[in-house]
Amino acid sequence: MTTGTAAQPRVTVPDVTSRKGSGTPLVMVTAYDAPSARAVDAAGVDMILVGDTLAMVVLGYDDTLQVTTDDMAHHVAAVARTRPRALLVGDLPWLSYHVSLDDTVRNAATLVRAGASAVKLEGGRKRLPAVHAILDAEIPVMGHIGLTPQSIHALGGFRVQGKDLEAARAIVDDAIALAEAGCFAIVLECVPDAVARLVTDSVAVPTIGIGAGRHCDGQVLVYHDLLGIEERMAPKFVRRYAQLGADAKAAVARFAEDVRAGRFPSSEETYHAADTVADALGLYGPAAADRPREQNTSAGASAPA
Ligand code: KIV
Repeated sequence: MTTGTAAQPRVTVPDVTSRKGSGTPLVMVTAYDAPSARAVDAAGVDMILVGDTLAMVVLGYDDTLQVTTDDMAHHVAAVARTRPRALLVGDLPWLSYHVSLDDTVRNAATLVRAGASAVKLEGGRKRLPAVHAILDAEIPVMGHIGLTPQSIHALGGFRVQGKDLEAARAIVDDAIALAEAGCFAIVLECVPDAVARLVTDSVAVPTIGIGAGRHCDGQVLVYHDLLGIEERMAPKFVRRYAQLGADAKAAVARFAEDVRAGRFPSSEETYHAADTVADALGLYGPAAADRPREQNTSAGASAPA
């Protein structure tokens, strides 16, 4: 359903699928709250993913296994309240679709009721029953293969996948199975570019790469990674387009300096009582010299011009 303005129709699942082979790669970026959603939507991305990376980049966990469907719904709802033009995809967390098919559908529906237009889940052929059940409830599904962080313990860590022939073939077969089952797009994470190319050429739906090279139909990055909000992890495939973490630290340090040096707040940053009111209240005494310091001094270093 298109509910945006005539000038800016909202991106739909069929819009995304129809971009396969269009020559213009799809752009997906994660967001987890209203400010990040407004920023990525204003930048014109095609899809916003409320990823389970929420666990690591926002909630401070070491892996993605710690978030629940309710956690994801809470953040999907925050993003949805901004009414983005981009297609909003909600990530199904670990153990939300590894359960009964009834519960799987209910969990996917929870994200849709929170505002997602589609859900993403990790895994290939093994997850086909879940994919079929969710699609049967009319909820579009995005696949995710290659490095699947919810399998971190089984995989033995965050490692490039599909490096040997057998593993590469398995990834291609998984992609074909997901596309044939009806997934509208497939995320390919941390696979060699040749494998990504083969997958992209083998399926009729867009592939969205992250650490999968350029031969994909689109690319996705995590908001905090591309903006340099934290420097703790620097995977090879991340390009930092800003250094917001360093900027934030420097800005807060300047604020602290200004407070400690008495430069904040300035007179301009302060609400003043009218002189008549101040005099009537006897606030400052009769002498002008006793008026508050900021009325007799120039503005602080960081005061607005
Ligand atoms: O959770 C997430 O942010 C993701 C992307 C890395 C694709 O799954």
